[in-house]
Amino acid sequence: MDRRCIAIFDSGLGGLTVVRAIQQRLPADDLVYFGDTARVPYGSKSKETVTRFAREICDFLLRFDPKLIVFACNTASAAALPSLRPHISVPTVGVVMPGARAAVERAGNGTIAVIATESTINSDAYRTAMRSLNPQVRVIQKPCPLFVPLAEEGRSADDPIVRAVVQDYLQPLVALGPQAMVLGCTHYPILREAIAAACGPTVELIDSAEQTAQQVYADLAATNGLRTEDRRGKLTCYVSDNPQRFRELGQRFLQQSIVDVTWVAPERFHADEARPVS
Ligand code: DGL
Repeated sequence: MDRRCIAIFDSGLGGLTVVRAIQQRLPADDLVYFGDTARVPYGSKSKETVTRFAREICDFLLRFDPKLIVFACNTASAAALPSLRPHISVPTVGVVMPGARAAVERAGNGTIAVIATESTINSDAYRTAMRSLNPQVRVIQKPCPLFVPLAEEGRSADDPIVRAVVQDYLQPLVALGPQAMVLGCTHYPILREAIAAACGPTVELIDSAEQTAQQVYADLAATNGLRTEDRRGKLTCYVSDNPQRFRELGQRFLQQSIVDVTWVAPERFHADEARPVS
């Protein structure tokens, strides 16, 4: 058993969907979350910039002595994880491969649709991961940049604006008859109901958050790292801006109230006072 925490980060609050899935799978573990709310969105930034941000955040998270770091952000997983992984001193889990694997299992030699941010689609990370698992699979992709602000605004699935945007983005993909669709962005599970309505019953939606939690569980089980005591793990959050907004909006992503949020600006990552008190 390994009692060290699991560290998780995202460009903002969307990664709380991954936190929620990990809490359900690994309830006894303490989680430390970093949301880069000062520099969100990552989805429209270059690979170089996202990699620099991810490297800084991993350095910060390593101060908590985690047993594992989860790249909950699809954009950071796609753009930065492959190049950073060899330089990080603890195991890492990204959201791309778990989601890709689940989609390939569902779709067989059929068609998989991937919806994600522009950076994730441009990186081609999902297609590359899927083709490494099954070279026959057909992958169709589409960036859906308006989904992130819609999810953050808390609009419901039956909101006419949500319906119109979802329909406009997804109709051309659905017309190509995919068997599965990967929700390749932390925010998209929030719009799941509207996306499911636009896709119809024949398209299976793959939520990277759930798949990633399963991957974290499997990796820890394989190294005797699971925490098996009968306890409820603690969630400690750090954000690079506006902890109050994170607390308020984050509740919707986490589906529970968020108590422990501390502001730490990226330029203070290396300052002693940014060090957690445990
Ligand atoms: N967290 C990002 C992702 O999963 C979405 C928000 C952003 O663009 O930073 O790709």
